[in-house]
Amino acid sequence: MSPEPGAASVENARQGGHVTQGAPTLEARGLVKTFGHVVGLAGVSLKLYPGEVLAIIGDNGAGKSTLIKCLSGALTPDEGEMLLDGAKVEFKSPVDARRAGIETVYQTLAVAPALDIASNLYLGREVRDSGPLGRFFRKLDTRGMRAKAKDELKDLGIGTIQDITQKVETLSGGQRQAVAVARAAAFGSKVVILDEPTAALGVRESGQVLALIKRLRGRGLPVILISHNMPHVFEVADRIHIQRLGRCAGVITPRSHTMEEAVAIMTGATTLDEAAEAPGDGKSAAGRDGGDRTRT
Ligand SMILES: Nc1ncnc2c1ncn2[C@@H]1O[C@H](COP(=O)(O)OP(=O)(O)OP(=O)(O)O)[C@@H](O)[C@H]1O
Ligand SMILES: [Mg+2]
Repeated sequence: MSPEPGAASVENARQGGHVTQGAPTLEARGLVKTFGHVVGLAGVSLKLYPGEVLAIIGDNGAGKSTLIKCLSGALTPDEGEMLLDGAKVEFKSPVDARRAGIETVYQTLAVAPALDIASNLYLGREVRDSGPLGRFFRKLDTRGMRAKAKDELKDLGIGTIQDITQKVETLSGGQRQAVAVARAAAFGSKVVILDEPTAALGVRESGQVLALIKRLRGRGLPVILISHNMPHVFEVADRIHIQRLGRCAGVITPRSHTMEEAVAIMTGATTLDEAAEAPGDGKSAAGRDGGDRTRT
């Protein structure tokens, strides 16, 4: 039995070849989030290492979105703590997390449909004209932003968008998703979090988003990817965090386990050997912790 039950002990035992070197970029310890008497998270710990893709899988309602909302400042956890580059962080809003370098694409897509693509890419961080008009009248450097937005999309291999001045409401669902992912990729300086980025996409666009995720990893940027699509997860993930009923049921890798095994753990049909001693000790859900070694 591990003296410190939690995802970390599972992860250490099950690296399956993936090297998790150095200190984690982002770490969550014992996050608890309840909504009235509904338990969203019952004590979840997670480590995200530089340049890795960490997938989070789990059934509907398992707590995946709640987890990343805590990591990205959209929700404040009731208990637990988060560390970015080893320093404790408390995000009061998504703006706080963005300022700290964590960019998130939420499951319910947050783009501004009436604005054009460039404006969406620069939403909340508009570039001012460098002249006096920008300084004194806050005039935007529209031309500059459009040029950069175009480069950024091209850089990311998003080739189906023809006109950067096109309003986002006129884009297809997949193209809209691509803009949101491009925005996260362009501005996430420490961590990029994607909640179901390929759910609404066709084969081609999904392929582009997966390629983009790999490219971000290539730049050394760690990515958290939530997806129900097992082939996608197994294609890009270095490690897979399995959420089940508000807890982490284990961390596996595409080399240590098959898709069938992952689904079996996810649905509770089987448990990881380690999972038996990690999150599940048979007590009631709320307040119990998969990694509260730091809390008193
Ligand atoms: N704002 C809220 N108010 C009440 N309950 C909530 C709220 N947000 C989430 N929950 C509940 O918390 C649990 C976890 O929800 P969450 O959205 O994190 O699941 P998920 O794993 O992302 O599921 P899906 O795969 O369907 O997106 C669910 O039981 C959900 O009903
Ligand atoms: Mg969700």
